[in-house]
Order: sequence, then C-alpha cells, then structure tokens
Amino acid sequence: MRQLGYRVVDLLVDHFANIERGPVGAKADPAQMISLFDHDPPEAGRDPNELLAQLERDVFPNNLHVDHPRFFAFVPGPNNFVSTMADALAAGFNIFNGTWLGGSAAAAVELGVVRWLCRMCGFPTAAGGLFVSGGSMANLTALVAARHFLLQDRVADATVYFSDQTHSSVERALRVIGFLPDQMRKLESDNNFRLSIQGLRAAITDDRAKGLRPFCVIANAGTTNTGAVDPLSELADLAAAEKLWFHIDGAFGAAAVLSERGREMLRGLERADSISLDPHKWLFQSFECGCVLVRDAALLKSAFQIKPDYLRDVHRGLEEFNPCDYGVQLTRSFRALKVWLSLQTFGLAAFRRAITHGFELAELAERELRARPGWEILSPAQMATVCFRFGNSDELQTQLVDEMMKDGFALLTSTELSGRACLRLCTINPRTTEEDIVGTVNRLDKFARELTGRG
Ligand SMILES: Cc1ncc(COP(=O)(O)O)c(C=O)c1O
Repeated sequence: MRQLGYRVVDLLVDHFANIERGPVGAKADPAQMISLFDHDPPEAGRDPNELLAQLERDVFPNNLHVDHPRFFAFVPGPNNFVSTMADALAAGFNIFNGTWLGGSAAAAVELGVVRWLCRMCGFPTAAGGLFVSGGSMANLTALVAARHFLLQDRVADATVYFSDQTHSSVERALRVIGFLPDQMRKLESDNNFRLSIQGLRAAITDDRAKGLRPFCVIANAGTTNTGAVDPLSELADLAAAEKLWFHIDGAFGAAAVLSERGREMLRGLERADSISLDPHKWLFQSFECGCVLVRDAALLKSAFQIKPDYLRDVHRGLEEFNPCDYGVQLTRSFRALKVWLSLQTFGLAAFRRAITHGFELAELAERELRARPGWEILSPAQMATVCFRFGNSDELQTQLVDEMMKDGFALLTSTELSGRACLRLCTINPRTTEEDIVGTVNRLDKFARELTGRG
C-alpha cells in the first residue's frame, strides 16, 4: 500500500511541479486510443508498478491538461494540490456524505462551507445548499426547487426566461424536469451579451396575455462565452415585481465575488432565489465540485426530501443535517472536504489574490492583442475572459485553434459571437504568468500572419 501510495504521490507532485514545461496536452486518435482499453480485465491481477507505467505512457499525456497554466480553452480547471490530497483522503476513508448518521462530521463540514459560501454571496441566514457534481447539476437542483415551490411541480403552460448566452446545461435541466422547447424563452442578448430588461419585460407581458404562466428568470453571473454579467439588480426587481423565481447561473463567475473587482461586477447576486457556483472552476478545486445555494434552504428540502422506511433511523434527529434531503444523490462523496482543506491551508487572501490575477491576465491579453495590427476585440476582458479574432474569415479562427493545438505551447478554443467565429481566452489559472500571456499572443499573431500571408 505504502509503495503504491508513495508512487502515486510522486507522480502527482511531478505533475504539479513540472506541468508548465510540457505541452498543454494531446487529443488521441479515437481508433488507436479506444483499442488500447477495449478488453476484458485479466483473470489474474497485474503488477501495480507496471500498471502505473502504462497509465503514465497511455493515459495521463493523452488528455488536455485543463490545469496547465497555458490552457485557456473553455473554462480551465486550475485545481490545487491540497484539494487533490483531500480527494485522496475522502476516497481513502470512503466517507459517506449522504446523511448525518452515516457521516456526521462530513455533514457538518459541508454545512459550514456551504454557509460560508452563502455569506460570501450575501445570502441571509436561512440560506443553505449542497455540493453537487458541477454547474449542470447545480442548475438542475435549483430549478427543481423553483418548480416545486412556485408550480407545485405542474409545469404545463409555465414559461422560463434566459438569454441566448446562457449555458446549455440550463436548457438541458429544463428538459429533464419536463419543460418543452416552446416553454423556454431564449432571449436575444444586447450588444454586451447581456440579458435585456426591455426584451424580458416584453416577453413576460406577451406570455401573460396568452394565458401562459411566467415562472422563472435565469441570469448569468459570468457567461461561458464572454464572462458577461446580466444586470442582476434590475432583473431582481423585475422578478420580484412579477413574482418569478430568480436563479443566477454563477457556475463560472460567482466565486469572483471574493475579490474586490468581482464584488463590484456582481452587485445584485445577493438578491437571487438560487445561485450555482462551481468551486471546480474559479475556486481552484479538483473535479467534481459544484455547489447550489438557495436563499431559503427549507425550499430545497421540501423539493427533495423523501423518508423511506429503511432510512427511519436517519430521520429521527430533527436537528441533524441530512444532505440527501436537499438534492438528487443519497450516496455522495465528501466534496466539501477539499474546499475546506484548501481554504484553511491557503487562507482567503490567497484566493482573493488568485482571482484578481485572473482578471488582470485577460486585461493584459486584450492590451497585447490591441497592440498588434489585424486583431479585433469582439468582447473586452471581463471576468478573466476576452474574445477576439484576426481578419474576416471564420475558417481562419478554426485554423488558428488547430495551429495552436499542433504547436502545444498554449491552448485556446473558438466560439461564435453575433454569428461570427472568434477566439477566446479564459485566464483563471493563478499559475499563469504574464510571460505565458505574451508568449501565447505572440504565437497567435505569428500563426495568423503565416496563414494569411500578411507579413
Ligand atoms: C456558466 C456555466 N454554467 C454551467 C456550466 C456547467 O458546469 P459543469 O460543466 O460543471 O456541469 C458551465 C461550465 O462551463 C458554465 O460555464
């Protein structure tokens, strides 16, 4: 056990210590990679050392390293080493985090961390929530609470409002809980990729006139595409006046409220009925670590709690917090441990600095791009995200992604804004340096000029 354990720790330490020296990762050829693992397990066990060597050769290099300081694609996963060790402990002790009876200390740790996150977002003391796999599950869990409280689970004729910049997990969550496409109002965002209050008001009025039941507004606290924050305070006013549930998808951006810059941008966050916030994004935790926060924890409980006979010993103590009563899972891993351990180890100031660093890196990237001819900024740096393109061809942006991938120094992905393909950098990794940003922009610039013949 010790030998295997020490080898595993050595591998992890090497990975954390040297990651920036290697490529940002690789995408394997499907036929080749699938054939490596498409076999029945052996009857007789194999030597763990040989197996680790196989993992080192075939598995670990053949993924994108979302924790690499020059991984700027999608939403990076810049986890920290303490969080990783906490996951090893949670798995090793195999702590059951579903009930107070099964894991009382774990439930207390989770409650403590969730209550801190609620305070951080400006929620009142009645608020609560739950750790879940990620933003997708957080959005789903919040919308189940909304449906239960406002619609008594009857979704017929109920309508939901969100901008065309909203993450697809919201639409999927609505699908899962019984909403049809014609009950979803995906509203055109404004020039800054934010939900338009006028557009929303008009859509609600229109639906009421048709006898439909407007029920929920979903706002973004940091869209995936551009980092845009919807006008949260105005939306909260409108939702309150119309008696709608107000959910904020802050899976990506809400954690930024810890920093001064984020706090300013996220004014109004505290007025939500529910918030999604992913510690596995901008709070630097290992996957899977999302969180759903609800203004009135009792609503979450009434949406999910069921008391089966075989859990009668679980539900005896009224004071006891049973996480299974607040979400979909009964058996749950101890996700809160990694958040607790890393917050305690590094302290809040380190997290605030790390978040602010992310804001600054995207601003630096924007400045560097503006300083080079031919680059157009489609969405300025906000929430550690900047979108831009070179020249007039959509195809060129895709080619630039491919060139960067082939080169291996840094990785970014493309998206579309107002129907135009563009490149996007998401700079939330606290281990990213200014040199990493400048080096990345230099390479992009070089490839763009080579591909277009513009010297
Ligand atoms: C704004 C937003 N919401 C939801 C999600 C989904 O989160 P997850 O992939 O953790 O389920 C993401 C993921 O990037 C996101 O950026």
